Amino acid sequence: MTSKNGKKTRFFRINEENFEAVLADASEVIRKGGTVAFPTETVYGLGADGLVPEAVIKIFEAKNRPLGNPLSLLVHSKEDVKKVARNVSEKALRLMDVFWPGPLTLVLEKTDIVPPITSGNLLTVGVRMPDNPVPLELIRRAGVPLAAPSANLSGRPSPSTAAHVKADLEGRVDLIIDGGPVEIGLESTVVDMTSTIPTVLRPGAIGLEELQAVIGKVRTGFRDSEEDEANFQKNAGQKYGHYTPKTPVVLIEGKIGAVSQKIGELVRTFLEDGKTAGLLLSEESSESLSTNLSGGLSESEVPKDLRFVLGPAEKPAEAAKRLFEGIRALDEKKPGLIIADGSFRLEGSGRALMNRLREAASKKFEV
Ligand code: TXA
Ligand code: MG
Repeated sequence: MTSKNGKKTRFFRINEENFEAVLADASEVIRKGGTVAFPTETVYGLGADGLVPEAVIKIFEAKNRPLGNPLSLLVHSKEDVKKVARNVSEKALRLMDVFWPGPLTLVLEKTDIVPPITSGNLLTVGVRMPDNPVPLELIRRAGVPLAAPSANLSGRPSPSTAAHVKADLEGRVDLIIDGGPVEIGLESTVVDMTSTIPTVLRPGAIGLEELQAVIGKVRTGFRDSEEDEANFQKNAGQKYGHYTPKTPVVLIEGKIGAVSQKIGELVRTFLEDGKTAGLLLSEESSESLSTNLSGGLSESEVPKDLRFVLGPAEKPAEAAKRLFEGIRALDEKKPGLIIADGSFRLEGSGRALMNRLREAASKKFEV
């Protein structure tokens, strides 16, 4: 998976002084059919000319992404949407007005200029206007919408820093633009606007409540509950699955006290088998486990570098920002197991965070 495909990858750390020069260079790469990785407010993206199949195929090759998994398009303005989508509903336009530029991808009926390789042979296409000057200027200068999935190898967590992109894609893409760590850290909310009742295919920073406040009823098409299963099965994108850390992940859902206790128990059972565990914690469970509440855990049982604190359980947006970094960091230490605290508040980013944890987990406990 990680073998290189022999490209020479160039890097730019972008700042105010070199912004113009870097963008001139990067847009030239896109115009010539190449690949550029760049920051967005959600996660780093890997972009290529979304209307040219020979360019789009390079994204699939670089990421090792299965052909058929649809890519979404990044646009520079609401006007650009008309080129790639038709029969755009009133509700979709309202969502654009309220949430763009921002972490919201709208699945719309596509026009004929969007090639089947971009849309995964579907008649629809995901469209988003990102809230970051780098991709916005790149799209404007290249003069084309960018097909731009997250800039990770398929099956790996999405990248929240340029270092993550480099680890996955060095030697596989033409250019990586480092614009510092992203703001949100989880991929955009994806909403299918072509169903009678709009369907949330992937939760993100824009929560169900916020969408409902603008367009009324929405359905969920991701695995948030048993009832979602039928909708989930129809979800064209999600059938390809999400990232799977190399280390198995166990998720413990429940109230913080019970979750901390269960984490302690699991670690000890695991240690008895001579294995180590890495912990993805909330601030609360971290505190509880290091101050000997709920049984505590000593430094010898779980060393500091195997405890990754995401953030407060009540403020999931902070934790969401660090999730992918945490998973990557623990995965690299190669523990026998990653145990994840699942006590984050299920609202807005919290729902998205819990969704990503559930996707990553091979085993779940409710306590
Ligand atoms: O925040 C984001 O959305 C980031 C940044 C880079 O923009 N991009 C991103 O792209 O996460 P990607 O390809 O990793 O995820 C896009 C999701 C996938 O689950 C894909 O299957 C789904 O959107 N998707 C795209 N087009 C679709 C379509 N026409 N119908 C259903 N699902 C679609
Ligand atoms: Mg992705």
